Amino acid sequence: MKNEIKIFSPGTVANVACGYDVLGFCLDSVGDEMVVRKTTEKGLKITKIEGHDLPFDIDKNVAGVSALALYEDAQPDCGFEIEIYKGIKPGSGIGSSSASAAGSVFALNALLNSPYNKTELTRFAMKGEALASQGEHADNIAPVLFGGFTLVKGIDPLEIISIPTPKELYATILHPQIEIKTADSRAILPEMVPLKDAIKQWANLGSLVHALHTEDYDLICHSLQDIIVEPYRSKLIPYFNEVMLASHNAGALGGSISGSGPSIFALSKGQHKAKEVEQAMRNAYSKSEIEFQTYVSTINTEGIKILSS
Ligand code: HSE
Repeated sequence: MKNEIKIFSPGTVANVACGYDVLGFCLDSVGDEMVVRKTTEKGLKITKIEGHDLPFDIDKNVAGVSALALYEDAQPDCGFEIEIYKGIKPGSGIGSSSASAAGSVFALNALLNSPYNKTELTRFAMKGEALASQGEHADNIAPVLFGGFTLVKGIDPLEIISIPTPKELYATILHPQIEIKTADSRAILPEMVPLKDAIKQWANLGSLVHALHTEDYDLICHSLQDIIVEPYRSKLIPYFNEVMLASHNAGALGGSISGSGPSIFALSKGQHKAKEVEQAMRNAYSKSEIEFQTYVSTINTEGIKILSS
């Protein structure tokens, strides 16, 4: 029986323009690593955190809260210690909290011989995510656990649908080095939206899901539009419009804010195009004083990867 596991828990792009709180996809080139090992002493401990400054208290750490939800449900006759190597900066918009929340439950489950399925693991991980965003949603957790694109049909009961990934689809991410807390960027959104905007948004979401199924890159291009959330949140991201214009001019299919920001994503057909889009986005952001990082990534259809066990 395994006593220790090392995993790579990837970043994600939640919302994917028109799918606020329901659609997301999994990245490959950016993520956290975690080592989780069984202990004879019962209980959970976070013994190491590297990369970013985060709390060691189980009930104040996203990975701890989600692990505790699973631990209390499973009631195993052992304990666990958790080491977290953060590769994703908190408050980046590319799923830092969901990588932590999903990573710990995935690892505990594997060490307990997998009593829970992916939907059940998502339910536990949502408890950790709720600590970071002050609201329960699964659009950034489901892709980490299921891989590829996922649609959260509902959270009560939790229902997750895996959506196929077109083979030539690549993501480009620009991450400005400013922090936007998810809870803050949720708080600025309106409670109500006009019906005419809702109609456009759900038409775009339906079209995007269809386009992903049929590998229709033109339809992906025409569906990647967020008329409800982006107008509010983009004001928090300096040079957002300039980056979007640059990625469009370079031939991206489209893009928007990644998760709750400040990262901006673009989708492209083919890796070569995604790299051209990356350069265009970099050129546009170089005009700002803000430091930034960029990534080009395949869509990770596997989700969390076991590095060793
Ligand atoms: N759907 C969430 C949001 C993702 O946009 O607030 C970030 O947790």
